[in-house]
Amino acid sequence: MISRKKFLETSLFGFAGLSFLDFKDWKFNEKLGVDVYKNLSPSEIVENEKFWANVREMFPISNEFVFLNNGSVSPPNKFVQERIEEEMKLANQGPSLFMRVNQEKEITNLRSTVARWMNVSPSEIAFTRNATEGLSTIIFGLPLQKGDEVIVSQYDYPYVLNAWKQREKRDGIVLKWVDFKLPFKANQLIDSYKLAFTEKTRFVQLTHVLNWNGQILPVKDLIEIAHNQGCEVLLDAAHSLGCMELNINDLKCDYLATSFHKWMNGPIGTGLLYCAKSKISKVWPLLSSYDSFREDIRKFETIGTFPIYTYLAINSSITCHDVIKLENKRARFVYLASLLINKLTNYMEVKLLSPKNPEFVNGMVSFELSNFNGFDLSELLLKEYKIQTTFVKVGDIDGIRVSPNMFTSKQEILNFLAVIREIINRKN
Ligand SMILES: Cc1ncc(COP(=O)(O)O)c(C=O)c1O
Repeated sequence: MISRKKFLETSLFGFAGLSFLDFKDWKFNEKLGVDVYKNLSPSEIVENEKFWANVREMFPISNEFVFLNNGSVSPPNKFVQERIEEEMKLANQGPSLFMRVNQEKEITNLRSTVARWMNVSPSEIAFTRNATEGLSTIIFGLPLQKGDEVIVSQYDYPYVLNAWKQREKRDGIVLKWVDFKLPFKANQLIDSYKLAFTEKTRFVQLTHVLNWNGQILPVKDLIEIAHNQGCEVLLDAAHSLGCMELNINDLKCDYLATSFHKWMNGPIGTGLLYCAKSKISKVWPLLSSYDSFREDIRKFETIGTFPIYTYLAINSSITCHDVIKLENKRARFVYLASLLINKLTNYMEVKLLSPKNPEFVNGMVSFELSNFNGFDLSELLLKEYKIQTTFVKVGDIDGIRVSPNMFTSKQEILNFLAVIREIINRKN
């Protein structure tokens, strides 16, 4: 059975701003080499392969493959895994009491912890199983009328676009498509969005980081523009939480959804929906709940019986994240992206789909290779070299995306680049 001490420890440690020393009860500290690394700046830590190798030890991942598709789903750290196992064992000993009553009560503590960590009110965040669920809740729940216009782009996430298309068919809303090319220039992108507004525009769908090429959108500017036009915004933050700054107060978005199982290395099947308090009552929940129009964020969590204990392990991912520190993670992602970008731009056969400046990506880098479609290249990498990437195919783009984790080693990236060189040479 889970000890209360363990639960309290993990709850108490789940705050932002933890120093390495606060974390001394966990072996993690020792492994990471707290005393050695605690005074190093992000620029010093970023290329310190020993530090990142220590981080990697927290992740019991298979050594059989090189995993360069962390953007789809990342491994949870071992503290997260242990917490899930403990909570599951407890739940299974008497689910109607231990899960439906006790663990559900613990969600209240978790909500406060996560809200404090994200600097928002607990009354504005709901736990979801993933970003898709949160995004769908808003898309299907908004009280839009026939003829209302919603701005989208072809580079928003396909499930998001399909949800909007469903509303277009079902309710007669009108989708207005913003046109731009990847990689985009921020000022041109902003101009393209501005052009899409009409007097019928009610809503704007925005993606913080594009899954196709890792590029970061100037969402703060875009949200301000939308608000000035009297429109609300739903921000898809699936690829920003945990790897770059995501400040909901500063962005001032009306609705936001994200997942913990990507860049937070949190429990698989956990996400978060933010809904500004003043908007909660008007949004229909995805599944019917006790009172669909109550101003209570928990109406978005009411999905019937499911393994709620998975949510409780979110705490452990936040603790781990805070110990490693966002600024170190961000610096590492930019560093790994720069290794890829600098080399790939020298290969004549490569067309980079991501911007050349690694600061403009969250860490994911995409490219096309001449004579290959993305699917075939990703299959070749997996089958012959045991390197997992993913293919990206949208509009006129047909390439692969490389998404390292923070603990992916420099050597793995160099090996990947050597493999691409070898594949090019084989074709020539
Ligand atoms: C931009 C974007 N939005 C939303 C999602 C959905 O995330 P999840 O599968 O965690 O729901 C993804 C998944 O990769 C994504 O890339």
